[in-house]
Amino acid sequence: MGEVNKALKLLMVLLLLLASLCFVGVKGYVEELQDEEVVKERGGDEGEGGRRGLFMLGKAKKVVKTAGGEVRVVSGLRWKGEPNPMHIGFISMEPNTLFIPQYIDSDLVLFVKSGEAKVGWIYKDKMVEKHLKKGDVNVISAGSAFYIVNTGEGQKLHVICSIDTSESIGHGPYESFFVGGGRYPTSVLAGFNTRTLTAAFNISSEELAMLMRSQRSGPIIYMNSEQMDQSKKSYIDDDDDDDNVDDDEDDVEDEDGTAFSWRKMLGGGGGDRTRETEMGRVRAPHAYNLYAEKPSFENSYGWSIAIDEHDYAPLKHTGVGVYLVNLTAGSMMAPHLNPQATEYGVVLCGSGTVQVVFPNGSTAMSAAVEEGDVFWVPRYFPFCQAASRRSGPMEFFGFTTSARRNRPQFLVGASSVLRSMRGPELAAAFDVGEEQLKEMVRAQRAGVILPYSADQEDKKGEGEVDDMHGGFIIV
Ligand SMILES: *[C@@H]1O[C@H](CO)[C@@H](O)[C@H](O)[C@H]1NC(C)=O
Ligand SMILES: *[C@@H]1O[C@H](CO)[C@@H](O)[C@H](O)[C@H]1NC(C)=O
Ligand SMILES: *[C@@H]1O[C@H](CO)[C@@H](O)[C@H](O)[C@H]1NC(C)=O
Repeated sequence: MGEVNKALKLLMVLLLLLASLCFVGVKGYVEELQDEEVVKERGGDEGEGGRRGLFMLGKAKKVVKTAGGEVRVVSGLRWKGEPNPMHIGFISMEPNTLFIPQYIDSDLVLFVKSGEAKVGWIYKDKMVEKHLKKGDVNVISAGSAFYIVNTGEGQKLHVICSIDTSESIGHGPYESFFVGGGRYPTSVLAGFNTRTLTAAFNISSEELAMLMRSQRSGPIIYMNSEQMDQSKKSYIDDDDDDDNVDDDEDDVEDEDGTAFSWRKMLGGGGGDRTRETEMGRVRAPHAYNLYAEKPSFENSYGWSIAIDEHDYAPLKHTGVGVYLVNLTAGSMMAPHLNPQATEYGVVLCGSGTVQVVFPNGSTAMSAAVEEGDVFWVPRYFPFCQAASRRSGPMEFFGFTTSARRNRPQFLVGASSVLRSMRGPELAAAFDVGEEQLKEMVRAQRAGVILPYSADQEDKKGEGEVDDMHGGFIIV
């Protein structure tokens, strides 16, 4: 009997041991899985040759993070021989927050993805302010001090901006010089010694200490309701989108001293310290709203708008173009290329695929994309984007590295290179009969934005462009 009992006890112990071993085993497995997921997530970070595709840009890096908001930057890549890459910044701000005054070592082209903002910056030596709404594009030059206030009532503000690295000085994606600040962030002024600053400000060292030591909430801070109200009132007229407002006496041209000037009257000899008179007033260039303007192209499959320096003069100086495309579900941009510029794109909503092709006619990338993904396409590389049929229209926005007229070349479809070149030369090049070629290149009646058939979309494999092999070769 005792023997049996002992044996039973032993069995129990063994079973318990086994169970706990199993538990450990499962736990270990779970941990492993999680690790794998993390690795997978990080996969995008590898950038060039990242798992998702050669021309997908990696995960955004947080460069600013405070209670009030954050700035993430996706670093651009450079194809051989290309000029400096562009970075794409994503600024998110909670309601009632301020991105404190700073200047950076890069031109900024801002696009308001959602929410409302007030942006103040120095333009031609003068302080200007603009109220921005969804779809607005605005430019701030490198080295110009600026701030951003989220003025949307209870709304988050999301801004996407291009960060041009050609003027940058550091190793980071960009370098911020905070004008206002304190302990965190540190104002650039803090680097001067007390004597210099007390003299420069003409204030006591106690006052100076108060000025330079108070702020400790970081680059994006909350404003209290009083500050917010004051800020919304604004001390500068905002002749937003109102081109009829004449510049009257406030115009900069008055500087010759002949005309009666509002500024002179108030400002007098310069003893007055109100911000208005110190900064003067100048008309800011209006913001350009991508949703309000007539699309550059539109058909029943979608629309697109691209703006360059001819449409919006402030872009001239930045060397950046801006575009927005809305593809209805199941439509595609016809295969095309940019002869002038490298293109960066951010998927704003919907999902689909982006295909990019190497010069030798092999697939460089065929990647599924969804909201928030960032892709890029080097100059000359043929590519196309297609919206999934399942998730509604796909909208994507982006920047090109040239403010000159880009004139994308479409390879297939109506108004394409193949259509206009359909002649004996092209027929000979494909080694098909001329009539046969004509028939084939005329079969597609739509141009630029085309329907994309469902069965093609479901073949998300690598070789799906193979049947078009050769058609993409550009001379
Ligand atoms: C400095 O401040 C004092 C007292 O407030 C004033 O009298 C003086 O004129 C100021 N100096 C300058 C150069 O502004
Ligand atoms: C994009 O296109 C779809 C229809 O194709 C339309 O319903 C939607 O409102 C468009 N989006 C914008 C922002 O215009
Ligand atoms: C085409 O070019 C790409 C990039 O240079 C290269 O990786 C690929 O192997 C080439 N493919 C063929 C078929 O030559």
